Amino acid sequence: MMLLSELKRRYEAGDNITRLLQTEPGINETRSIEIAYDLQAGSYARAALENPANWVDEARERTPILNRYLRPGDTLLDAGCGENTNTCAFVDQIPPSVRAYGFDLSVSRLVAGRRYVRQHWGETAADRITVFCGRMDRIPLASSSVDVVMTSHAVEPNRGQEAVLLRELLRVARRYLVLFEPCYEETSEEGRRRMDSLGYVRDLDAHLKALGAKVVERTGLTVNHKPLNPTVCWVCECTGDGAPDDPAPASDTAPEAPPEMAYICPVSGEPLVRLDDCYWSPGGLYAYPILQGIPVLKPEYAIILTRPVAS
Ligand SMILES: C[S@@+](CC[C@H](N)C(=O)[O-])C[C@H]1O[C@@H](n2cnc3c(N)ncnc32)[C@H](O)[C@@H]1O
Repeated sequence: MMLLSELKRRYEAGDNITRLLQTEPGINETRSIEIAYDLQAGSYARAALENPANWVDEARERTPILNRYLRPGDTLLDAGCGENTNTCAFVDQIPPSVRAYGFDLSVSRLVAGRRYVRQHWGETAADRITVFCGRMDRIPLASSSVDVVMTSHAVEPNRGQEAVLLRELLRVARRYLVLFEPCYEETSEEGRRRMDSLGYVRDLDAHLKALGAKVVERTGLTVNHKPLNPTVCWVCECTGDGAPDDPAPASDTAPEAPPEMAYICPVSGEPLVRLDDCYWSPGGLYAYPILQGIPVLKPEYAIILTRPVAS
């Protein structure tokens, strides 16, 4: 495969890295997506700062949808959160006791996002969002462990993996899965050609149906800053762990200390515990590094650690 330094040079010269990697031998699709997005780190934060109205408009349309399904005290996971530009745009408009989590393939984007959130949304917003690095086909979280799982154009670049990713998202969601994703079948011919060339997902309706997902809302959104890539919102009701009829907690105040997310090892499925500078699975005996303060919980970074010694 081409050296990362060469790819970085080509990215800075204006080449489309996704298209370039499509012809590179010896690289799998998820790794290509990671490289293409990691090279873009910082670009979403810059765009959000240069043109905040776009994000405000989007959030104005999307937040009421989320608020129909979120309840005080819920956990919310933004899968493929990138630089948290979207998460931030609605985090101050959802109940204050909701705790937000986000994960992404790219560490550089999560780090850029953490700086963006602190500098431009402040400490309170930053304290409400916990991020980790992970893969959507092997989410390092237990089944039915998050009240509401959402995505925003993050399933998008994973053509061919639609069923695997949707199944994982549905597995982790306890009450609802809210997808803000493009709909290939409702896009113009020009839009479809673009989606084909970039390897964007298709047939999401058919995949959800085949997975037995209960779609309770499906709305074409009107705010689309990329007309060739219009967004549809699908809401699926999940039935994990007594959901959705259990009573909501009465109080809506922010928790004093954020609850630690119950991570699991993406290789063994066993719970992870924090051990010095890593996460470790006493059942699975793998450890995962923490890089620039971000837990990297991807199967390819599982380190065999059968006899750890805590300091
Ligand atoms: C188009 S960006 C959207 C980012 C963010 N959701 C937003 O709305 O600004 C797609 C993001 O999804 C992430 N992503 C794509 N495929 C992924 C996968 N299989 N697992 C985890 N993250 C993924 C990318 O790294 C990228 O940050």
